[in-house]
Order: sequence, then C-alpha cells, then structure tokens
Amino acid sequence: MSDDSRSSLSGGRTAAVIPAAGRGVRLGPGAPKALRALNGTPMLIHAVRAMAASRAVSLVVVVAPPDGAAEVKALLDTHALPERTDFLVVPGGDSRQESVKYGLDALPPGVDIVLVHDAARPLVPVDTVDAVIEAVRDGAPAVVPALPLADTVKQVEPASEPGMPEPVVATPERARLRAVQTPQGFDRATLVRAHETVTGNVTDDASMVEQLGERVVVVPGHEEAFKVTRPLDLVLAEAVLARRRANDGF
Ligand code: CTP
Ligand code: MG
Repeated sequence: MSDDSRSSLSGGRTAAVIPAAGRGVRLGPGAPKALRALNGTPMLIHAVRAMAASRAVSLVVVVAPPDGAAEVKALLDTHALPERTDFLVVPGGDSRQESVKYGLDALPPGVDIVLVHDAARPLVPVDTVDAVIEAVRDGAPAVVPALPLADTVKQVEPASEPGMPEPVVATPERARLRAVQTPQGFDRATLVRAHETVTGNVTDDASMVEQLGERVVVVPGHEEAFKVTRPLDLVLAEAVLARRRANDGF
C-alpha cells in the first residue's frame, strides 16, 4: 500500500504509545522490566522495533520509568529504527493507566489512529500489528488482539484469610472467553475521551472505551505476543528469538 492510499484511508498518521514505566515486580529484583535484556537487547527496543516494523506507524511514543527518561532516550538514539519512524520519550506515572495518559498527551496534531502497546510484549509479529490498524481503519473505534484460552477459568470469592481455600462462584463458558493482548488500536479521539472520563482501576485501554458504551472488537492475536511477566517468560522469549534466528537462515 502506498503512503498516499494510507493517508487517504485514515486521514492522518498512526502512532504507537508504548507504556514502559513499570518496575516489573513479578519478574523479580533487577532493572526496570522494559530495560532488561533479551538476547542482549533491551526488551523495550524489541517492542519499539515491533511497532516500527509496521509501515503504517510513523511515530512511537515511549513512556519511560519516571527517573529513566534520559536513559531511554539514549537507548533509542543508539539502536537503529527505520528512517520513516520518529520517536518521543516522556516520563511515566504510578499506574499503567496514568502512563498511557502521559503518552497520549504527547501526541502531536495529525495523528488519528493510536496503538497502545505494552513494552512487556516485545515479540508481537508485524502481521498482528497491521491487522489491528486495518480494523481501526475499517471503522472500529477500538480493536483488541486476543486468543482463545487454554485453561478453564473460575470466578472465586477472595479467601477470608490468607492461605484458606477460595470458594468457586462461577465457571464462565470457556469458548466465549478471550485472553487479550496488545497492541490495542483506537480512534484517537475516542481513546482520549475514555482517558478523560473513565476513572477506577482498569487493566487495559479497551475496557475504558467499553465503559463509554463504544463498540470494541476482537481480531486474532498471536502466541508470540505473550506478556513477559514472570521469570519463565524470559526463557520463553529468548527461545522465540533463537527460533526466529534459526529460521532466518543461520
Ligand atoms: N506500565 C507503565 N507504568 C506503570 C505500570 C506499568 O508504563 N506505572 C507498563 C509496563 O512497563 C508494561 C505494561 O505497562 O510494559 C504492562 O504492565 P505489566 O506487565 O504489569 O508491567 P509491570 O507493572 O512493570 O510489572 P509488575 O506488575 O509485575 O510490576
Ligand atoms: Mg503491573
């Protein structure tokens, strides 16, 4: 697709906001999660490259750990990105939601589609990124990539005291459940409105748009878009990178 046909379809640019300000408590002690290395390259750089791999993405806004913006800027300066991709670095906040808000605040005029992508999902394939953008261009105000669940899910009543068994309240029908990933894609104005009006704890951006009563749709996610959360996920991520390298003909 040419640059011209892209801009005529969407009317403007597509930007990716990458929240990377978390500490990574569940990963254990060490550097902030986004700065931890995967095969020698910081996780954040993998995530930025994954967004920049889409020809539609012309701006990447990285939301850095509050005291690490200069370090992140230096990292981006030393790791090559495609020439078509600009980047900005802003400091993050105490919650993911706040960090995303700071990223949105930094978007210049002319951006009308926004992807929000966890730095902790460094290996999402470009086809998934493009599928999300395409669905937003086709008119959905919010798009989430998602996969069916392997495990059955139980809803429980929190235990009365730590260590006590938790009573099961319900078992949602697994076939109708989806585990959602990022990048989530949005009409910019809709996402900004969601961040201005929805309060309370949320774990993804699409749920804020749901609370506005706007339509949110799911497209197929990818198993390589998993979130690096616990130590075993680092092992898996490095195995995925090793498999890619082998398939690239080494
Ligand atoms: N994030 C952020 N600002 C915060 C908290 C989280 O930008 N205050 C980002 C993380 O950097 C990550 C993404 O949101 O890329 C998803 O969050 P999660 O996987 O929970 O990362 P952490 O919060 O860093 O990990 P943990 O919850 O284990 O501390
Ligand atoms: Mg977290």
